[in-house]
Amino acid sequence: MNAVIETHQLHKHFGNIRAINGLDLQVGQGEIYGLLGPNGSGKTTLIRLITGLLHPTDGRIIVLGQPMPHKGVLAQIGYMTQASALYEDLTIRENVAFFAAMCGGVSRQRVNEVIALVDLTDRANSLVRTLSGGMKQRASLACALVHSPRLLLLDEPTVGVDPQLRATFWAYFRRLADEGTTLIISSHAMDEAERCDRLGFIRRGKLLAEGTAVSLRQQSNTPTIEAAFLHFATMEQTENPSQGEANA
Ligand SMILES: Nc1ncnc2c1ncn2[C@@H]1O[C@H](COP(=O)(O)OP(=O)(O)O)[C@@H](O)[C@H]1O
Ligand SMILES: [Mg+2]
Repeated sequence: MNAVIETHQLHKHFGNIRAINGLDLQVGQGEIYGLLGPNGSGKTTLIRLITGLLHPTDGRIIVLGQPMPHKGVLAQIGYMTQASALYEDLTIRENVAFFAAMCGGVSRQRVNEVIALVDLTDRANSLVRTLSGGMKQRASLACALVHSPRLLLLDEPTVGVDPQLRATFWAYFRRLADEGTTLIISSHAMDEAERCDRLGFIRRGKLLAEGTAVSLRQQSNTPTIEAAFLHFATMEQTENPSQGEANA
C-alpha cells in the first residue's frame, strides 16, 4: 500500500487519560477511511495528532513520507474541525479567501470554484453569522478544500447535516478520492460507515477492528455495523477486563 498516513504505537495521554493508547494505523492514497467510535473514543485526538497540532506522548506519525510535525506536509492537509472554525463577522468569500491566503499560492478563481462546489455562490457575500447550520458546514468544507490538499481530515463533518446535504457531501468526498485525495472521516453515526472504503473501529484510543463494512460484518457474523462494533468492543473488554470504564 502507498501509505499516506502511518502511525506506529501511537500514544497520547492527558494526565491519566489515555486518549490514544497504542494505535497503529495505515491509510493509503485515494482511500476514504472512516474512523468510527463513540464520543470520547479518541477520534479528534487522533486527527489532531495526524495534523501535527498535538505531539504524541509516545510513538511515531508519518504523513506523506515525513515524520510529523512538518510544515511542508501541513500545507498539504485540509482539516475540517468538529466545531465551526469560521469567522462569523466575515462573509463566506472572505472566510475562504482568508484560509487560502494562509496557505498561499491559491488563485481567486480557486476560491470561487470551491464556493461553487459547495453550492454557495449566491450566498458568497453573506456574513457567516447569518447562515443556516448546513450552510456553515458547507462553508467549512470549502475552507478545508481551497488549497487542494492531498489529505483531507474531516472531523464529524455530517453531524447536524440533513440527509440531502449529507448525500451531497458524500458525492464530493467520493469525487475527491477518485481524483487521488486521501480522506479520513470521523463519525459516531454507524449508518455512514457503508460509504467508506475502509473502516477503523476506535474505542478507548485503540483500534478494535479494521476492514470494509462487509468484511467487518462477516468477521463478527452480525447484520449491521452497529452490531459489529458491539461485538468487537465486547471481545476487547473480555480480553482486557482490567481497563474498566474509567477511560471510556
Ligand atoms: N486537551 C485535552 N485535555 C484533557 N483531556 C482531553 C483533551 N482532549 C481530549 N481529552 C480526552 O481524551 C479522550 C478522547 O477525546 P476525543 O479525542 O475528543 O474523543 P472523540 O473525538 O472520539 O469524541 C476523552 O476522554 C477526552 O476527555
Ligand atoms: Mg471528537
